[in-house]
Amino acid sequence: MYNLLKGKRGIIFGALDENSIAWKTAERVHEEGGTFVLTNAPIAMRMGQINELAEKTGSEIIPADATSMEDLENLVSKATEILGGKLDFVLHSIGMSVNVRKGRHYTENNYDFSAKGWDVSALSFHKVMQTLYKQDAMNEWGSIVALTYMAAQRTFPDYNDMADNKAYLESIARSFGYFFGKEKKVRVNTISQSPTPTTAGQGVKGFSGFISYAEKMSPLGNASAQDCADYTVSLFSDLTKKVTMQNLFHDGGFSNTGVSNEVIERFED
Ligand SMILES: NC(=O)c1ccc[n+]([C@@H]2O[C@H](COP(=O)([O-])OP(=O)(O)OC[C@H]3O[C@@H](n4cnc5c(N)ncnc54)[C@H](O)[C@@H]3O)[C@@H](O)[C@H]2O)c1
Repeated sequence: MYNLLKGKRGIIFGALDENSIAWKTAERVHEEGGTFVLTNAPIAMRMGQINELAEKTGSEIIPADATSMEDLENLVSKATEILGGKLDFVLHSIGMSVNVRKGRHYTENNYDFSAKGWDVSALSFHKVMQTLYKQDAMNEWGSIVALTYMAAQRTFPDYNDMADNKAYLESIARSFGYFFGKEKKVRVNTISQSPTPTTAGQGVKGFSGFISYAEKMSPLGNASAQDCADYTVSLFSDLTKKVTMQNLFHDGGFSNTGVSNEVIERFED
């Protein structure tokens, strides 16, 4: 390992179990010398195995519902206290659609479900950053990353209202990234990750077909959760200080591939 994050402190949202992208990222950040507080929704704590990760990485856990300003204010002030100073990195790795969970087709969305999913998956990113900003909790040249998916740019029918939530999330990265950059020299980016077998990923209808198709369409193959953790570490490190307000595709080349030979072969007579 390279000590890329030695002396850096942060908050990692969204480690539910060992498949979670946030879980792999926490392990990699720890290997690179970073220290952090782990957080997740109180309900997820009961289901998840976060204690194991906390023990392994020498981290404390502070429960927070990412839609609650009160929880976020408590989280940020406690995290800076526990870690002994301002933060250098934050990972927002949160997503949930009630319409997907309840099997509501996109053309039949329930708007109470849509509003809840939007609050959890998109607006929570603004809430997290507003809390960090107001408490002046980020060090200069800090880095904030959220995870997204290409359904924000192109239509994937079964991604449902999460596509709209991701488009909103990516827009927040640009809008807040401007102010965070100007005022505090903090960078804000989203990583647009390949389909990944996690609890959230597998909630998408037809996920197994979806992931195999992406694998065959990506010259480098799908990026795994572990690959995503590596990429996130690079964005938290001082090696990417001038990268901000970007949506960064981390997908083995999928987003720029029209068609692959493997896919053509399946359709030849
Ligand atoms: N898995 C994929 O195929 C894929 C692809 C691209 C992007 N992503 C994104 O990666 C991120 C992480 O998802 P994952 O795939 O690791 O799945 P995951 O299910 O392991 O993680 C999702 C996390 O969101 C948390 N969460 C839900 N509601 C919350 C709330 N109110 N407050 C705080 N946390 C809450 C869950 O507890 C869970 O830990 C999500 O933003 C997801 O959309 C996933």
